[in-house]
Amino acid sequence: MADIPAFARAADVEASLERLAEVCEDPTPVVYRHMFAAHPTMQPYFWRDTNGAIKGEMLSRTFEAILDFVGERRYAQHMIGTEMVTHEGYEVPREVFVTFFGIIRDAVRELLAADWTPAFETAWTEMLAEIDAYAQATPRSDAANAYFAARLEEFTAPYAKA
Ligand code: HEM
Repeated sequence: MADIPAFARAADVEASLERLAEVCEDPTPVVYRHMFAAHPTMQPYFWRDTNGAIKGEMLSRTFEAILDFVGERRYAQHMIGTEMVTHEGYEVPREVFVTFFGIIRDAVRELLAADWTPAFETAWTEMLAEIDAYAQATPRSDAANAYFAARLEEFTAPYAKA
């Protein structure tokens, strides 16, 4: 991990996931129970996942992304944007895509039970807000995006004057 983590409360997010590894061998069923309770319509989209491997892979890659996002932040902020676009190919709307991080938080909170602390709650709340800001900033072609429109304007303005 870098000397100075990208996220001020990185230690609390990391501690919550370390505790999770101690108390639960495989959080996958609990995470997806939360997912399908929140988004029942998403269940059929996993039709290719006949043995649970895709769900497991998606979760472990998301855990890795969370740890990179709070720590060194070498790739996670970009991965969130690229996976969001990839998921459009699976017909997973962006608004649904981004909720997976909060779904993981809910599952970790449930599994840690009495070990879940107010510091973990604060750290996850702030991290989710920061992830959401990155997600909102990802350019999209299917709807107006104020962030992207402002940058496009900045880029094209000199040419418009010429
Ligand atoms: C509620 C939100 C989400 C839903 C409903 C969803 C749904 C899906 C589905 C249906 C697949 C399987 C595609 C196939 O048939 O091969 C998949 C794969 C995958 N998902 Fe998600 N996803 C969500 C959020 C996320 C997030 C937040 C991440 C990570 C940032 C992620 C990472 C992946 C990865 C790594 C795969 C494996 C293949 C790939 O690279 O696309 N997913 N997801």
